[in-house]
Amino acid sequence: MPRGYALDPAPTYARLRRERPVTQVALPSGQKAWLVTSYAHVRALVTDPRISSDHTHPNLPMLAPLRPEDIDTPHEPVNTLVGLDPPEHSAPRRSVIAEFTVRRIQEMRPRIQEIVDGCVDELIAAGPGSDLVSTVAVSVPSQVLSELLGVNPPDREFFHVRASKMLGRTTSPQERRTAMMELAIFINGLLIEKDREPTDDLLGRLIVNNRETKVFTHQGLLHMAYLLLVAGNETTANMISLGTTGLLENPHVLAELKADPSLIGRTVEELLRYFTISDVLVRVAKEDIEIEGATIRANDGVLLCLGSANRDETIFEDPDKLDIHRGTRHHMAFGYGIHQCLGQNLARAELEIVFTTLFARLPNLRLAKPLAELPFKFDSNTYGLHELPVQW
Ligand code: HEM
Repeated sequence: MPRGYALDPAPTYARLRRERPVTQVALPSGQKAWLVTSYAHVRALVTDPRISSDHTHPNLPMLAPLRPEDIDTPHEPVNTLVGLDPPEHSAPRRSVIAEFTVRRIQEMRPRIQEIVDGCVDELIAAGPGSDLVSTVAVSVPSQVLSELLGVNPPDREFFHVRASKMLGRTTSPQERRTAMMELAIFINGLLIEKDREPTDDLLGRLIVNNRETKVFTHQGLLHMAYLLLVAGNETTANMISLGTTGLLENPHVLAELKADPSLIGRTVEELLRYFTISDVLVRVAKEDIEIEGATIRANDGVLLCLGSANRDETIFEDPDKLDIHRGTRHHMAFGYGIHQCLGQNLARAELEIVFTTLFARLPNLRLAKPLAELPFKFDSNTYGLHELPVQW
């Protein structure tokens, strides 16, 4: 469903919320699925045990049409954490949750600050007119993740180049597949190394704990590490570029933040709600569900539209306004229920540090092109920007 104003979700969502908050839609793949747009119904279904996240289910909604290259090289869907239902979901989630507590992330802040400083140095060195996506938005999460996972410093460049390739607009499908394969092989090597000589980092600790808990096979560890990389990379990169754009397009909000930097926590929270970059969650019904006069049948695909729920006027007053004084944390930009984002504290820390540093060091930062000319990721379920040329 096309967006109108680039910083708002599709206007059709508002009409559906009012008229048919649970409705059937046709997907580009040819499948049919139920689209759920109101906050109350999304929240009810995302925690409903009759709704499954099973990524191997044949009726799981596909958001993009199949491309010829997908058909040429069919692959078995891999099920890890985000695609597991209880009880299988619980043990792997428990195994990694301690790595993402508020305290752990607090300890990482000084290092995240150094990484952000280095990226902003790079942007400044590239000069006015250069691209904030490649210098800052993509670099920060990729460097943070390589430290978190415990990639050795000499290998970080290799890791970063592949992680960026996976997101690049000019990367061909073949190049993207090669980058993904190279990263999987690299992470596999890292796991073998850390199994031989455990290190004090996320993967090192996971391997040591797993010797007792035996939650993961070697393959399972590989998928978990890979999931963390994929889940934490593009999401955070997109929020950095969109958040910067959102602040530059709302100068009164930016002025308030500059005058009182302690507002950064609320600002990040509101930017997360406002952009809700994970537009929909994909699910499948396990049983028949009666809801809002509709019957979702067992095995029907379900799309839980976070992008719409977070602009629901019955929950958020004046929902299309970027208002950093809401002081609410009940938005669902990180999902809700058992799969709620594991990395949310890390994402918040990265965003807070990036926006604070960026606007302190470049107080005259502005867009180098009008909003209408910026290349937004209109065709992606994870909304973002391919490029963000800036001046100062
Ligand atoms: C799950 C959004 C950053 C790791 C999720 C989900 C959402 C989300 C909406 C729920 C998926 C579902 O229910 O199907 C975001 C956003 C981020 C972000 C908006 C940045 C602004 C991160 C980071 C990491 C991470 C930095 C880790 C390094 C995960 C993992 C899951 C997840 C592992 C699956 C959890 C589970 O299934 O139990 N994220 N995420 N995310 N996220 Fe994030």
